[in-house]
Amino acid sequence: MNKIKNIGVLTSGGDAPGMNAAIRAVVRAAIYHDLKVTGILRGYEGLINADFIEMDRKSVANIIQRGGTILKTARSDNFRTKEGRKKAFEQLKGHQIDALIVIGGDGTFTGAHLFSQEFGFPVLGLPGTIDNDLEGTDFTIGYDTAINTVINAVDKIRDTAESHDRLFIVEVMGRDSGLIALRSGLGVGAEAIMIPEANMGVEGLITRLESGRKDKASKIIIVAEGDEIGGAFNVGEVLKKKFPAYDIRVSVLGHIQRGGSPSCMDRVLASRLGVVAVEGLLDGHSGAMVGQKDKEIVFTPFDHAIKHLDAKEISPAWMKLVEILSL
Ligand code: F6P
Repeated sequence: MNKIKNIGVLTSGGDAPGMNAAIRAVVRAAIYHDLKVTGILRGYEGLINADFIEMDRKSVANIIQRGGTILKTARSDNFRTKEGRKKAFEQLKGHQIDALIVIGGDGTFTGAHLFSQEFGFPVLGLPGTIDNDLEGTDFTIGYDTAINTVINAVDKIRDTAESHDRLFIVEVMGRDSGLIALRSGLGVGAEAIMIPEANMGVEGLITRLESGRKDKASKIIIVAEGDEIGGAFNVGEVLKKKFPAYDIRVSVLGHIQRGGSPSCMDRVLASRLGVVAVEGLLDGHSGAMVGQKDKEIVFTPFDHAIKHLDAKEISPAWMKLVEILSL
């Protein structure tokens, strides 16, 4: 017989649009299955400190459309230690919480992996990060909204770039992953995209610009913050020296990419995965992230989900697309 009666839910790491939709789905699915749900505030830090709130149907009303996370989030150094995780386990036991759903990215799942291994505690994860850098799901919750935020911003930059015949270097988020840069760059028709996975380097960029159309005065270069060249301002300095005739400006989009109302795609993904996570725990699944691949639900062990294998999506063929389309 399944002993799960009370599920704890938390959001951890960088927030992502759609986290609230995921929390709502977890709470509503748990109530549907006659379970209690405990909200854990500020991620693993709140778990260690027993910062708990009881959640009901109403506590998740009117949040599906809101960015951020009503449970707040944090990156916890304490949970990286064995003592921290032991304290967390004791808090769960002490408060009769029988299983955990963690919503976050690779840092969150690294902690969840250790925790479920050490204590044999039932844990499932939902992929909540704008970076889309998890194996085991085609898209993470928040990614679609973030890339749409980027294209809306860069479309505006393109207007002014065009009016002034300027070259803009736009930096987007993605500490370890160029997926935001790649998709949004294709979406805005960028002249070049610099991402850690492709290693274009500044020489490659210069060659691209030298061989590009000379009659096209406005240009947009998208740089992922994780690119080894060291960010948009560095690229700007190098290009200013190399191409003194260009009128160059730099724009760093920053945290606007993490906020805002989630897209329909993120809301639906979060809703579906949230329900599956609750039912997955009841079916005995644990130690895995719940994702969606080719429209099918997939449970991927945490240690596999964080391997970044999906970086393979950035094949030379994608980079070739950028080159062909920026003619
Ligand atoms: O992991 C999501 C992410 O938005 C990365 O793309 C970015 O590098 C990082 O978080 C920024 O973190 P912080 O908000 O702590 O500066």
